[in-house]
Amino acid sequence: MRIFYFLWLICSFAFADESTDWQTQSYKQSKHLPDLHHAVDVKLLDEMQPPAEFVLKEDRKIGCKTCHGLEKIAETPYDKIDKNAPDFLRKDGYKKLETFCANCHDKKAHERPNIHLMLNDDGTIKKENCLFCHSEINEQREKLRLLVDTHLRLPVEKVCLGCHLKTPHFNAVEHTDANLKALEQSKSSAKNMKARLKKTEDEQGVHLPLSENDEVLCLTCHSPHAKGVLGEKNPASNQVNGDIKKGVEYEKHSWNEVMEADKHERLGKTGDVLPPYQRLKNEVLLRLPAKDGTLCLSCHEFEN
Ligand code: HEC
Ligand code: HEC
Ligand code: HEC
Ligand code: HEC
Ligand code: HEC
Ligand code: HEC
Repeated sequence: MRIFYFLWLICSFAFADESTDWQTQSYKQSKHLPDLHHAVDVKLLDEMQPPAEFVLKEDRKIGCKTCHGLEKIAETPYDKIDKNAPDFLRKDGYKKLETFCANCHDKKAHERPNIHLMLNDDGTIKKENCLFCHSEINEQREKLRLLVDTHLRLPVEKVCLGCHLKTPHFNAVEHTDANLKALEQSKSSAKNMKARLKKTEDEQGVHLPLSENDEVLCLTCHSPHAKGVLGEKNPASNQVNGDIKKGVEYEKHSWNEVMEADKHERLGKTGDVLPPYQRLKNEVLLRLPAKDGTLCLSCHEFEN
């Protein structure tokens, strides 16, 4: 029996190697995990005590259903899996990856070093941090260079992923899926967006890069570098002044009462599960402030 099982394993692995398109197969068929995916079939350590809904396999091993709430995820071809389903990751994992991981991993012991903290106390740069994203250390120039000349290890669309989710916060996906060129043609609300963006860049001396195909990127709104890494005259260096060590912070605001009442009225019960209105207190790694709307107004036009 054992030998049979063993042979079956070898066969299925051989099969997985031969197959060119694992995306159209299920995990059960290909035994192929998505790139950069978490290990499976490893045993939970004694100190890991996830909530009961993180169902374990025999022997306290973790399987697909430990972390994912979808029925039959292992039997579904990868390209048919609904990654936007609310229960795709248990416990609302997609809203905040760190707290999701903390269901098993001790937050302190596994805290990721913040690679955006790029300066030593004496103001020199931490060269090792640059190499997370660049294949070589770019020298400073006063003028912007093209994205393709910045020696990125990954395409600009992907350089933040792996460390961050595609959905790090509300509306990130709607933005990073948006193609300005196509939208300008199809929607009147997006008509002047690209021109507005260019105008903001010129007037405010800031860099708001789009992809080669005019898509909005994480990088359009966010700067990956700490202030002081790039020369001050380079528009790519322009960003908000927040404390990166503290990270993004929000504070309660009296408008929340108004917003809650409005959500309840328009959306009924579903409105109550939306997060409360809070105001940004410490903003970091943004090319323009969002607190006062400047960033948003570089593309959007709000009428009142
Ligand atoms: C320890 C928790 C954990 C286990 C166990 C787990 N996953 Fe995941 N999986 C994740 C997380 C977290 C993500 C989201 C990664 C991201 O978007 O950055 C993910 C993402 C995925 C994705 C989307 C990948 C993409 O890039 O679009 C698929 C498909 C997936 N998992 C399938 C599986 C299958 C099949 C199994 C079982 C063999 C499994 N997962 C087991 C945590 C887990
Ligand atoms: C259901 C519990 C569970 C969750 C949730 C979970 N992990 Fe794990 N993780 C494990 C277990 C079990 C191991 C293997 C333990 C060991 O042997 O150290 C592990 C190992 C790891 C390792 C080291 C092994 C390797 O693959 O190199 C990393 C890194 C890791 N997890 C990161 C994460 C991240 C990031 C998240 C959130 C996206 C996460 N884990 C969520 C249970 C979990
Ligand atoms: C998180 C990923 C990431 C890290 C880490 C990183 N960079 Fe960059 N860097 C980018 C991206 C993306 C661009 C292109 C967009 C831009 O200019 O902001 C870039 C552009 C640059 C540019 C060219 C700016 C221009 O347009 O002229 C220089 C110079 C640079 N990086 C230097 C560094 C140095 C020095 C470090 C280490 C202290 C570093 N980078 C670390 C992602 C990163
Ligand atoms: C090598 C991993 C890595 C890469 C690549 C990376 N980041 Fe980060 N980023 C981190 C870590 C670690 C933190 C600290 C907070 C945390 O653990 O989430 C962070 C924090 C941030 C924050 C502030 C969140 C907070 O509250 O502290 C923003 C915004 C951010 N990153 C944007 C980006 C963008 C945009 C890119 C792509 C250009 C990027 N990051 C690439 C690891 C990475
Ligand atoms: C339309 C502009 C915009 C785009 C596009 C965008 N973000 Fe953000 N992001 C923000 C704003 C605004 C904040 C909150 C203020 C801040 O960063 O200081 C934020 C916050 C964050 C945070 C911190 C979240 C928290 O609450 O701790 C991370 C991490 C992050 N963004 C990563 C990304 C990544 C990765 C992408 C691409 C998938 C992305 N963002 C795309 C505007 C944007
Ligand atoms: C680089 C240009 C750009 C910037 C900067 C920008 N947006 Fe957008 N935004 C877009 C595009 C493009 C869309 C998609 C429009 C569409 O599909 O009709 C969009 C869509 C939206 C939507 C609607 C999402 C949906 O599902 O319909 C909201 C809400 C939004 N943006 C808010 C903001 C806020 C708040 C900010 C500032 C933090 C901001 N945007 C900054 C370009 C931008």
